[in-house]
Amino acid sequence: MRMIAPSILSADFSRLGDEIKAIDRAGADLIHIDVMDGHFVPNLTIGPGVVKALRPHSKLLFDVHLMISEPERYIDAFVEAGADILTVHQESGAHLHRLIQMIKAHNIKAGVSLNPATPAIMLEDIISEIDMVLVMTVNPGFGGQAMIPAALNKIARIRELAGEREKPLLIEVDGGIKAETIAIAEAAGADIFVAGSAVFSSDDYEANIQALKKAGA
Ligand code: DX5
Ligand code: ZN
Repeated sequence: MRMIAPSILSADFSRLGDEIKAIDRAGADLIHIDVMDGHFVPNLTIGPGVVKALRPHSKLLFDVHLMISEPERYIDAFVEAGADILTVHQESGAHLHRLIQMIKAHNIKAGVSLNPATPAIMLEDIISEIDMVLVMTVNPGFGGQAMIPAALNKIARIRELAGEREKPLLIEVDGGIKAETIAIAEAAGADIFVAGSAVFSSDDYEANIQALKKAGA
């Protein structure tokens, strides 16, 4: 069963609380929150204060994607704000292991994201510690970009690296997921599909989420 994680980056920021309620009612499986700092990526978005304000609007898991430099400075704040999964970028710093331990100390799920040019092998010595890998299929920073399909090739290698585990590793893909591309991402081995523009670009969120769940399946 495909899990769909609408990215609120493409929602109406003037009424984010209502937007979250609407995607929850429309059948979203998780809520993907894109945090950008204008430094690690060339865009600025949401901080922990906004996440905290949104928390009462849905019981779905908050899947918080940190596209920020020095993420260690903000782990505690995002946990306190209500993140259920915190994902940091492999490329964001030198001490990934320490970062993952910081996240796990809060008893929430820890994810690592790979930019399109970062190979799967960079996860070899951390994969046994993490719950999720977020494979970027666009260069992070903006919604509405076209998928880079070659970035899907690393998913098979990530599964290999993960090997047999007590709880299977979740693999999420992010960037350019729409009805036309979701099936190839699924065939590549992903479990969770982030979709920003495909969910929010027209008013019927339920139909948009259903279209993603059914496309090419
Ligand atoms: C990009 C973000 C994505 C983005 C996806 O940096 O991480 O989550 O919102 O948007 P679409 O689905 O429009 O490509
Ligand atoms: Zn994202």
